[in-house]
Amino acid sequence: MNIIVADYIYTPTGFKKNLAVAFTDLIQDIDSLDGLTKKYPDAKVIQTEPNSILYPGFINTHVHLEFSANKTSLAYGSFKPWLDSVIEHRDELIGACNNEMMLDECTKMMRSGITTFGAISSFGNELEICEKTPQRVVFFNELIGSNAMYADMLYGDFQERVRASQSCEESSRIIPAVAIHSPYSVHPIILQKAVNVAKKHNMPLSAHFLESQAEREWLESSSGTLKAFFLKYFNSSQTVTNIEEFMHAFDTYPTHFTHCVQATEEELNYLAQKGHSVAHCPRSNRYLGCGRLAIEDLPLPFTVATDGLSSNDSLNIFDELRAAIMLHNDMPIQELSEKLLRAVTGDAADILGLNCGKIEVDKLADFTVVTLPEEPKRTEELALWTILHTKEASEVYIEGEKYV
Ligand code: BEZ
Ligand code: FE2
Repeated sequence: MNIIVADYIYTPTGFKKNLAVAFTDLIQDIDSLDGLTKKYPDAKVIQTEPNSILYPGFINTHVHLEFSANKTSLAYGSFKPWLDSVIEHRDELIGACNNEMMLDECTKMMRSGITTFGAISSFGNELEICEKTPQRVVFFNELIGSNAMYADMLYGDFQERVRASQSCEESSRIIPAVAIHSPYSVHPIILQKAVNVAKKHNMPLSAHFLESQAEREWLESSSGTLKAFFLKYFNSSQTVTNIEEFMHAFDTYPTHFTHCVQATEEELNYLAQKGHSVAHCPRSNRYLGCGRLAIEDLPLPFTVATDGLSSNDSLNIFDELRAAIMLHNDMPIQELSEKLLRAVTGDAADILGLNCGKIEVDKLADFTVVTLPEEPKRTEELALWTILHTKEASEVYIEGEKYV
C-alpha cells in the first residue's frame, strides 16, 4: 500500500485540502494523512512537493500517432487544401514516422500528465508502440473507404486489425475499439458492419463528424470544394451518404464524435438524445480553419483532445487546454477552466467507459501531480492556475506505478 499526500486533491466534488489517498493498483481509501497512516501503518508515504495538486491522470481521447512526423508538410489554414496535402504527403509522412518517433510522442504526452489516450489507427502501425507505452491506450481501429468496389477488401483489413488489437488486450493496457473515419470517406454498408462490431464486443466507438463547412456542403449537396477533391482522387461526383443517414447509423450505440464544429443545434440535440458525446479539438479546428465549436451551448458531454500532429504542434494536454481558454474567449474563465479539467478527466472516462479519471475509491490509481510555482491564494482559481502554469506534470502514476 502507498499513501500519497498533496496540498490539494481534485475530487469529483471539487478541490479538497487536508486529504491523502491510499492506493495499490486501485484507489483504496481517501482520508486525512493521520487517518490513513493509522489504518495502514506499513504503507509507504509519498509526500508531493509544496503547492502540489493531485489529479486523476489526464485522458486525451483522440490522437493520430502515425502522423507524428508532420511539422511543415501539411497545409494549414483551410480544410480542403489540408486534405489535399494529406493525400500528397501521406506515404512519406507515414514512412518517416518510426517507432522511436511515436514512442517519443507517447512519452511527451505522459510528461504532460496523460495516462490514457485514444489512438486512432488507420493502418495498425502504432500497435507495437501502444503495447510498449505505459499508458492505457484505447486503440481505435479506423475504417476508411468510400468506394464500394474496394469496400470488402478494406473491411477485411479492418477486421484483421481489430483482431490484432484484441490479441494484445491481456498483455498490455490496450483496449480494442472502433473508429469510422468520417461520413465522406466510409461506405454506408461497411460502416454499419463496423458499428455492429463495436456493439457486439462493447468496444468504444468514435467517428470524425462535421469538421468543416466543406464536409457539410459535400454531404448536403455533393458540392463545394470537396467536389474537385473527390473527382481528382476517387473519380466520384456523388457523396456516399448524407448527414441524417450517417447519424442514424449510430442510433443504437453511444459514439464519441470528433469535431462537430459545423453541426447545427438540431443535429447536436439529436446526437444528445441518442446518448452520444463530442471530442473537441480546439487547436486542430483553429489550424485547419474549421471554426469554433460553441462548447458553451453544447447539449451533450464533451472531452478535449489534441488530434494528431497532422493538425497540431504538440500532443501536450496543457497546450491544448490553454488554447481552449483563448479560443472560447467569451466564456467566464474560471468556469471554463473547471469545465475543461472535467472534460479531460472524469467526463472522458465516463464517455469511454473507463474505470479511471476520478479520485474515488475503487478507481484505477492513475494520478498526475501538478505543482504550482507558488502557494495559490484562492481555491476558486486552482483550475485556471493549473492550466496556465503547467507545461509538465511533476509526477505521473499509472495503475499505482510511478512513471514520471
Ligand atoms: C476514401 O477512401 O474515400 C477517402 C479517404 C480519405 C479522404 C477522403 C476519402
Ligand atoms: Fe482526427
